[in-house]
Amino acid sequence: MKHITCIEDLRQLHKRRVPKAFFDYADRGSYTEDTLRANSEDLQQIKFRQRILVDVSKRSLATTILGEPAAMPLILAPVGLLGMQHGDGEIYACRAAQAAGIPFTQSTMSICSIEDIAASVDKPFWFQLYVMKDRGFIKSLIERAITAKCSALVLTVDLQVIGQRHQDIKNGMTVPPEWSLSKLLDFASKPSWVAGVLRGKRRSFGNIVGHVKGTEDLTKLSEWTASQFDTTLNWKDIDWIRSIWPGKLILKGILDVEDAELAAKTGAQAIVVSNHGGRQLDARRPRSRCCRRSSTRSARGSRSCSTAASAPAWTSCGRSRSARSPA
Ligand SMILES: Cc1cc2nc3c(=O)[nH]c(=O)nc-3n(C[C@H](O)[C@H](O)[C@H](O)COP(=O)(O)O)c2cc1C
Repeated sequence: MKHITCIEDLRQLHKRRVPKAFFDYADRGSYTEDTLRANSEDLQQIKFRQRILVDVSKRSLATTILGEPAAMPLILAPVGLLGMQHGDGEIYACRAAQAAGIPFTQSTMSICSIEDIAASVDKPFWFQLYVMKDRGFIKSLIERAITAKCSALVLTVDLQVIGQRHQDIKNGMTVPPEWSLSKLLDFASKPSWVAGVLRGKRRSFGNIVGHVKGTEDLTKLSEWTASQFDTTLNWKDIDWIRSIWPGKLILKGILDVEDAELAAKTGAQAIVVSNHGGRQLDARRPRSRCCRRSSTRSARGSRSCSTAASAPAWTSCGRSRSARSPA
């Protein structure tokens, strides 16, 4: 594409360059995709007020995020499997975020490990934690984030039960992948993607493989991961996490005002108002509407609230959605 002028151009480029299963994994949502559509539609309803004849020669989006200077009120949200969209994707995304002067959040389910990223960038990054049943592994994961000098821990609280993404099932997005002739042909038609992934450091979950016994083989890794998301996770666990993690703590996946108020009492420095980009429980309220409610209330508890234009603090972006509904 000669001229990339908007997010939709980038989305089309992604669609052209990356195998369908991975494109759909990023682009689609869970169940009926009602929440995914509502997220885009709701954001479109937010309009700017235009004032005129004001000297705008010195414009700046610079701000502070949790006390650190940032070039704009934006954070790269955690995105699992980023290293399968592009070889070493997490390292490139982290470098790009740091060059742009904004925080990057590494997902627990990333392809590069915490150590891979730490060795490849100059500044601290944020680490996102999914709490799993194997608490010994979770403790060591938090300790690895401390050793890597991660500057914030983002605890995701809306994925104890994984939302069903119908398109992923249809595309055989499993570990190990389900192969078909059409999938092989699709991969063969994306040689630059294949070369990039082959050149990358890893092709499996770098934070897990080699750190948990018996996850070296893909089938066992898949069984371990599927059985590990902890449905017992509750408010009391925040104290346990706090006892290991001394730094800034952010709770991600809050939509209800009462939960925002409970979060403020945990000592967390911020919340991310998020419905996981419409990838978890479907038919939830669009995040920007929830944000308007929670930010008003959480401001009273002097907690920053992220995401959506009406929020007082900053926006955390997973994948940029254009005005279009998923194709
Ligand atoms: C492909 C993809 C993978 C994601 N993986 C994670 C993840 O590993 N951990 C997490 O907390 N959130 C994850 N999310 C959710 C994002 O961090 C973010 O909350 C969401 O994308 C925000 O909505 P938006 O995509 O409309 O900006 C993922 C989102 C996408 C699109």
